[in-house]
Amino acid sequence: MEFIEKYSEFFEQLDKTYMDRSRFVPSVGPEDAKVVMVGEAPGANEVEQGEPFVGRAGDKLNKVLRDIGVERSDIYITNLVKIRPPDNRDPKKDEIEAWAPLLDQELENVDPDIVLTLGNFASKYMLDSSKGISQIHGRIFTREGLKIMPIYHPAATLYDQSKTPDLEKDLRKAFGKEDTGQQKLSDI
Ligand code: URA
Repeated sequence: MEFIEKYSEFFEQLDKTYMDRSRFVPSVGPEDAKVVMVGEAPGANEVEQGEPFVGRAGDKLNKVLRDIGVERSDIYITNLVKIRPPDNRDPKKDEIEAWAPLLDQELENVDPDIVLTLGNFASKYMLDSSKGISQIHGRIFTREGLKIMPIYHPAATLYDQSKTPDLEKDLRKAFGKEDTGQQKLSDI
């Protein structure tokens, strides 16, 4: 079923000023996924391809997942705000408030073992906390019975490469993939 149709009750009540089909990107992934990833909002590449995390941040995420032996297609991937903010600005408080109930409904529907919040915006919303991502990444919190692990946003690791090992370590922990210490083919 098409995403908008599936969550039609949400879309019917959404204030029309927050919806723009030309900037809208639906979630992807299996509805029985064990892991849900929540980003911030789509960018230009995501709008073009109609899928979250397919631009540079997505390439980085895919690489780390490949390195630790996780299939992206097993993960349900979504965004806190589902339309691209103009000029790549941060999502605004009222936009987050308008879209967040849809994320809550998706999480109820998918009912994953763990939710990974990518970066500050999704983490602050899901944890109802103002703590910055560098203080809390890699720790597991519980909200209403749901396990939540904040991790660095892959885009942040593009600007600051020193965050990549933390992103990889946190993802290994979330997916139960031990680091064997073996050298990665991509490092040779
Ligand atoms: N950044 C996000 O937060 N979400 C995307 O879908 C792409 C980039």
